This record gives sequence, structure tokens and C-alpha cells, in this order.
Amino acid sequence: MIYGLEIRNVKSNDLDAIMRVENEAWPIEARAPKEKFEERLKVFPNGFFIAVLNDEIVGVTTSQIIKYNPKNPPNSWTEITGDGHISESHNPNGKAVYVVSLGVSPKGRPEGKGIGVGTALLERQKQLTKELGKEYLVLSARVPSYDSFCKTRGNIPIEVYVNLRRNDGLPEDIELRFYERAGLKQVKICPNTMDDAESRNYGVMMEWKA
Ligand SMILES: CC(C)(COP(=O)(O)OP(=O)(O)OC[C@H]1O[C@@H](n2cnc3c(N)ncnc32)[C@H](O)[C@@H]1OP(=O)(O)O)[C@@H](O)C(=O)NCCC(=O)NCCS
Repeated sequence: MIYGLEIRNVKSNDLDAIMRVENEAWPIEARAPKEKFEERLKVFPNGFFIAVLNDEIVGVTTSQIIKYNPKNPPNSWTEITGDGHISESHNPNGKAVYVVSLGVSPKGRPEGKGIGVGTALLERQKQLTKELGKEYLVLSARVPSYDSFCKTRGNIPIEVYVNLRRNDGLPEDIELRFYERAGLKQVKICPNTMDDAESRNYGVMMEWKA
């Protein structure tokens, strides 16, 4: 664990600080407004965690429970989460924890480099999966290096892109790499998963078996 880092559940008076993290972590089109966080807190507070580094909130993750069939995984983030609202999509009887959001602000990534805050938040969602006796942790990863890759190296199909690997065997894409390092596997490519220019609106459904 990182020195000075605490991962804890959210209280309603944390919401203003959470909005600062949201606005600093995400591209403008993908940011959620405060009402969606209020709703997530009301509907499933157990899946709502923050990362506090030296007394400052620097990371946020939210989740819901869904029915999940690994043979027929869901399609878009927008569809699975009711566009991030979760009151219609959260189903306490489902067998998977679905991570709705995960973001870390620049203060949690000093000198522009991750120090493990995002990983610690994801590990907390994995722990929640076990605590609740659920079978899977599922999420829709962005592919935020896809647009810049195509612009600098030439257009390639998304199916080819998600399989590009570095010498160490990990994905070329910065975010697929983050999730694979944490033990998640790619399940399916989802077009139009959410408004996200960096990912050309693609996402990749990823799964971890508890
Ligand atoms: C993805 C994110 C949560 C990672 O948090 P973090 O605290 O930097 O992550 P960690 O320090 O635990 O791990 C670092 C790894 O995260 C990934 N990462 C780093 N910067 C990233 C970025 N801007 N976007 C996506 N992934 C990033 C990389 O794989 C990095 O490892 P590497 O540089 O050695 O390959 C954070 O970068 C972020 O908030 N990104 C924007 C919002 C987002 O895309 N959230 C995920 C939604 S599915």
C-alpha cells in the first residue's frame, strides 16, 4: 500500500471534492455531473469508494451489481449503466460487480505518473466482489490511446489495435494495460460504448473471475 493512502467508502459531504476529481480526471465529454454521483451514492453506497492521499481526495470509483452471463456479455457502458444513472440498472441479485467509473486526479498522479492509486481503487472493487459473494468483476475499459495511435501510425481496425502488445507482452493501449496488469481479461469489443473521442467511442468489456 502507498504511504499516506487510504481507500474508504464515501460520505455525502465528500461529493464536492469528488466532482473536482471527476473534472480533472476525465475528458470533458465523459464527465458525470453531480446528480449522477448523488444517485450512485443513494442506490449502491457499498460500491462507492474514494482514495484519500495525505488527507486529500484524489480518486473515485463507483459500481453497481448486474446480472451477467459470460457467454453473452453486455454491450455498451451507456446501456448497462442507464447512462451512468444506475437506479434502473442496479440489480442486487445479479452475480457480477460492474465498475461504473474509476478516475484519478493529477494530484494522485504526481509528476504525471501513476503511483498505484487507480490500482488500489480497482483492488477495492475486487475485494467487494468477494465480500458480496459475487462471481465476477466486469467493466467497460476505454481505449484512450486508439485515436492518437491511428493519427500518428495510420488507421488500423480496432480488432487489430486491442491485440497490439509491447515487448513485455502487455497491451499497447495505456488503459487495457492497466486492467490486464490487474488480472482482468478482454471479453469483447463494444462500439459506441460511450462518448469518448480518444477511444473513437470504442470500449472493451473486461472480466475478472473472483
Ligand atoms: C486509468 C486511471 C484510473 C489509472 O490510475 P493511476 O492511479 O494512474 O493508475 P496506477 O498508478 O495504478 O497504474 C498506472 C497505469 O495506469 C495506466 N494509465 C496511466 N495513465 C493513464 C491515463 N491517462 N489513462 C488511462 N490509463 C492510464 C497505465 O497502464 C499505467 O501504467 P504504465 O504507465 O506503467 O503502463 C487514471 O489514469 C484515470 O483516471 N484516467 C482517466 C479516466 C479513465 O480513463 N478511467 C478509467 C475508465 S474505464
